[in-house]
Amino acid sequence: MSAFGEGDMGSRRAARQVRMDMRELRVIESKRSHATFWTRNRRFIALAIAGACVAGMLIAVAALIPTMVKKDSEATDTTLEVSTTTTTGGRGTKSSWATSTTMQTKITRSITSMSTGGGGSSSSTTKTRTTTVRTRTTRTTTTSRSGASTTSTTDSSSSTTTTTKTKTMRTKATRSTTVSSTGSISIMSTTTTPPTTSMTPSSTAYQCCPSNRACCKTTQSTFYTKGGSTTTTTARPTKGLTRTPKANNVSNRSAYIRTRPLTIWCNDYHISPIYDIKHQLKLFNVVFLDKSLSGACHETKTCAKNLKILHQGNAMMPTEKVRQEFYEAYKDDVEMNRVDIFMCFHPVAMCELFMPFNRTIIVLASTRYELGRYKKEAWMNWNKNLQIIAKNHRNVISANNLYDAEYIRYFTGIKPIVLPSLCTYTNASYQPNMHKPVLIAPIHGKQFHTEFRLNLSNALEKLKISINVSDLREVYKDRYEYSQLVQHPAIIYVPYQVSLMSLFEQYRMNIPLFFPSLDLLADWHFAYRVVRERTWGGVIEDLRNSSLISGVLDKHRPDPNNEFDRNAIYYWLKFSDYYQWPYITYFDSVDDLAVKLSQTNLTDISEKMSLYNAHVKQDLHEKWRGILEKIN
Ligand SMILES: *[C@@H]1O[C@H](CO)[C@@H](O)[C@H](O)[C@H]1NC(C)=O
Ligand SMILES: *[C@@H]1O[C@H](CO)[C@@H](O)[C@H](O)[C@H]1NC(C)=O
Ligand SMILES: *[C@@H]1O[C@H](CO)[C@@H](O)[C@H](O)[C@H]1NC(C)=O
Ligand SMILES: *[C@@H]1O[C@H](CO)[C@@H](O)[C@H](O)[C@H]1NC(C)=O
Ligand SMILES: *[C@@H]1O[C@H](CO)[C@@H](O)[C@H](O)[C@H]1NC(C)=O
Ligand SMILES: *[C@@H]1O[C@H](CO)[C@@H](O)[C@H](O)[C@H]1NC(C)=O
Ligand SMILES: *[C@@H]1O[C@H](CO)[C@@H](O)[C@H](O)[C@H]1NC(C)=O
Ligand SMILES: *[C@@H]1O[C@H](CO)[C@@H](O)[C@H](O)[C@H]1NC(C)=O
Repeated sequence: MSAFGEGDMGSRRAARQVRMDMRELRVIESKRSHATFWTRNRRFIALAIAGACVAGMLIAVAALIPTMVKKDSEATDTTLEVSTTTTTGGRGTKSSWATSTTMQTKITRSITSMSTGGGGSSSSTTKTRTTTVRTRTTRTTTTSRSGASTTSTTDSSSSTTTTTKTKTMRTKATRSTTVSSTGSISIMSTTTTPPTTSMTPSSTAYQCCPSNRACCKTTQSTFYTKGGSTTTTTARPTKGLTRTPKANNVSNRSAYIRTRPLTIWCNDYHISPIYDIKHQLKLFNVVFLDKSLSGACHETKTCAKNLKILHQGNAMMPTEKVRQEFYEAYKDDVEMNRVDIFMCFHPVAMCELFMPFNRTIIVLASTRYELGRYKKEAWMNWNKNLQIIAKNHRNVISANNLYDAEYIRYFTGIKPIVLPSLCTYTNASYQPNMHKPVLIAPIHGKQFHTEFRLNLSNALEKLKISINVSDLREVYKDRYEYSQLVQHPAIIYVPYQVSLMSLFEQYRMNIPLFFPSLDLLADWHFAYRVVRERTWGGVIEDLRNSSLISGVLDKHRPDPNNEFDRNAIYYWLKFSDYYQWPYITYFDSVDDLAVKLSQTNLTDISEKMSLYNAHVKQDLHEKWRGILEKIN
């Protein structure tokens, strides 16, 4: 069993690539005389690149998930059975893909017409300015950069520009499928004739729900109906709708869950969170349709196959057109009709696409939730849709860490529940070999890293402490086995993120962890920007003193995206996983770290972590039981 850790190599390379691409862009751009579009959208495009890039990084992160699929096959057999019909084991055959992958994001600015740019069958004569982001995925196993395996056109800004300039729209037919409690089926078909007026920007929001008119009313969406007439007809039963009739005993839902499998749909850009959820829910009667868009999907054999409309290039920031087409393609789909639950992790905004289907939605944020919705308008629309999702009690808004829960609350007022990742799939536990070095988890920021290493060596020498310390990436270049990791006495962090899948794994393996105290980390972040990936601005090194949109809570709460106010940094960093979990050892200085490394009873700490982890596992199991029992 092995893992890539945080895919640190990949992420650094990716970050460098973003910067290179951005420089290249500036050069190209300076050559253009009519640079207005670019100038206006530069920041957004930068963020868009970052998005693609971060996706790349997280794909690398996702590569955490090792080759343990085989081991886990008993556990996830239902899943794999389902998946085999939809996957062929991924695009790559070489498992080194994720280690050597960089997402190369090239931006070309082009003015295209919708019908070619969107690649769809639309007959609209829209002239749209589309920013085309080419995501080029290069496998270094093919030794050359030109091995573009996934070249796709996504658009970043057209979700807004498209509609504002639309003159005509195709006829849209929407159909909502309702399954009555007796298992019989009735279909409502709603046909909307094309709007004749052009859309105003305020109506361009994809307010989700062509089939759910109640929801559309809430947001005054004119998306499908503006300027058109609406007809409602009762239609034929959909063939292939194969939902099993409910179990007789609906009053006892525990029993019910065991009698009828719940089908969960996910098409995520990150393989780890869904992998963890599959592992967590294996004792429940659930089936997963996992159509991963992650570049590391072959690691878990979950690569999207037969996924209509969506692909790696268009699903991170889908245009309205893509959203419509997705719904149209799936509204009568046999496989889709089986789905009870949609789950979204990375990006959580993927759930916008699932809203029209009127099923349970589980939003589980594993990073800042505006991923893929960086631009102001897209972000605000996503907030509105999230509010709509949250209002329906059968849905779940959650985050796998408190920081993201608070972050969502800051911008929406919604209070997500925290459903931490469990990551017990590692099947390994602390087994220290005191001759192995204490590891230092990847630290971002070269200058800081060098200083820190030097200061630590000096401190250990000065205090005459003979403890070996090594960088994790020195000891394990690309991959490590979990069984290797647990042999190291401890892991030292100067974290670059507020929540990490690898940290969940290490904590669950009961490995003692050393972190800077909140005060020290706030200082270090303020001075060196060490928690680099806390904000999307930090990821692309375009630091900001405020968020693009304002929060909805009281004015005194500091802005989470303010990187220039130590109080704001301090306030937000305290929500990080490592300041929430017990039994982590904090150091106030490098000298203090040296002392604590030599004086801490690591066995004792590990035993306490183990007890705590057992409790977390049980608690999570009950929480998931509660969630699944609510779903009919
Ligand atoms: C959505 O589903 C619920 C229950 O599954 C049903 O009661 C409701 O009528 C549906 N709404 C629409 C607009 O189809
Ligand atoms: C339904 O549940 C009740 C109690 O929860 C139980 O007494 C009864 O036997 C169950 N019926 C069936 C058909 O399982
Ligand atoms: C439901 O069934 C399970 C097992 O069949 C049982 O443990 C539980 O007590 C039942 N709950 C109710 C409310 O009857
Ligand atoms: C977990 O590891 C133990 C030995 O360390 C092995 O016997 C067992 O089969 C493993 N379980 C799984 C599910 O891989
Ligand atoms: C440190 O590592 C060296 C070799 O890497 C080893 O010989 C030595 O015993 C280690 N020291 C401790 C205290 O583990
Ligand atoms: C390293 O030590 C120097 C000298 O004491 C100090 O100025 C610097 O802030 C320290 N850097 C770090 C990262 O600990
Ligand atoms: C934030 O930065 C902008 C420009 O970078 C500046 O004009 C503004 O005053 C700053 N605001 C605060 C609150 O520091
Ligand atoms: C460390 O803690 C363990 C478990 O609590 C205990 O058995 C052991 O004696 C402690 N070791 C030292 C050196 O205090």
